[in-house]
Amino acid sequence: MSEEKTRRLIIHEYKAYIMASSPPFKSGTGNDFMEKTKYRYLATSDQEKGLRQPPLELPPLPEKPYIDLPPPERIEIPPMDLRAAIELRHSVRSYAKAPLYLPELSFLLWCTQGVKKVVGTYATFRTVPSAGARHAIETYLLVNNVEGLRPGLYRYLAMSHRLQLVSDEPDLHIRIADACLGQQFLMRAGVVFLWTAVAYRMTWRYGERGYRELHKDAGHVCQNLYLAAEATGCGTCAVAAYDDDSMNALLGIDGTSQFLIYLAAVGKREPVPERRE
Ligand SMILES: Cc1cc2nc3c(=O)[nH]c(=O)nc-3n(C[C@H](O)[C@H](O)[C@H](O)COP(=O)(O)O)c2cc1C
Repeated sequence: MSEEKTRRLIIHEYKAYIMASSPPFKSGTGNDFMEKTKYRYLATSDQEKGLRQPPLELPPLPEKPYIDLPPPERIEIPPMDLRAAIELRHSVRSYAKAPLYLPELSFLLWCTQGVKKVVGTYATFRTVPSAGARHAIETYLLVNNVEGLRPGLYRYLAMSHRLQLVSDEPDLHIRIADACLGQQFLMRAGVVFLWTAVAYRMTWRYGERGYRELHKDAGHVCQNLYLAAEATGCGTCAVAAYDDDSMNALLGIDGTSQFLIYLAAVGKREPVPERRE
């Protein structure tokens, strides 16, 4: 058989294989989203129209005190081989009673959203990649068991590496576990990272296609948490099963311009590693 014929046969067989292994095409919201966010449907973006870009971070909460976090460069974390961290990583849903220490939490925040460089009012460069360096994620924390922090809901201000207490209602951990379809391990985690997306920070540049990028960005953030948790003797479990409206209401965000996109629980693993300052 000629080379050309062999090539055509391979392509033909490959197409037949793909068709046989895919269910018949069904229209639905997911397909519509993928279709309508193709470049050919996109309107001129606000950036292209010359509109001013939104701020790099949401403003701090008025009248809420700041909590300085230990500076990332001063935190001593035992060195860990990257390959070992990747091999050891798995989802951990059962945690030791020991608290996380503030330097460890500070390290995890820095690994997931830490700002390495600010370019004027235009962009930040962080420890995670982001489409167009838009960095549209804002982190909230449900603190259950962190030494030196009272339990409650906090916001992380990445630009200044500080926290602000949003709410210390006593039953927040129960309401959050309920809103996550009853996933009880969230109540026993030392801390739950709650990542929200500020949509316009991304759509200003990419229009409707920006929604795709928000979800990809969130994946990078969570993967860094999984790996960084290994280095601090912690375990992590990503969570995507939650009731959107209930969770957005608990965080005090509108669910449209800003919405919860992903969360992950973190807690100390058994056996608890020796404390390092
Ligand atoms: C996008 C995403 C959503 C997830 N949502 C949940 C969840 O809601 N609850 C849960 O217990 N685990 C959740 N997980 C964890 C997965 O169940 C876990 O990654 C998978 O079973 C593979 O196990 P491993 O992480 O230990 O390799 C999620 C993981 C990902 C990546």
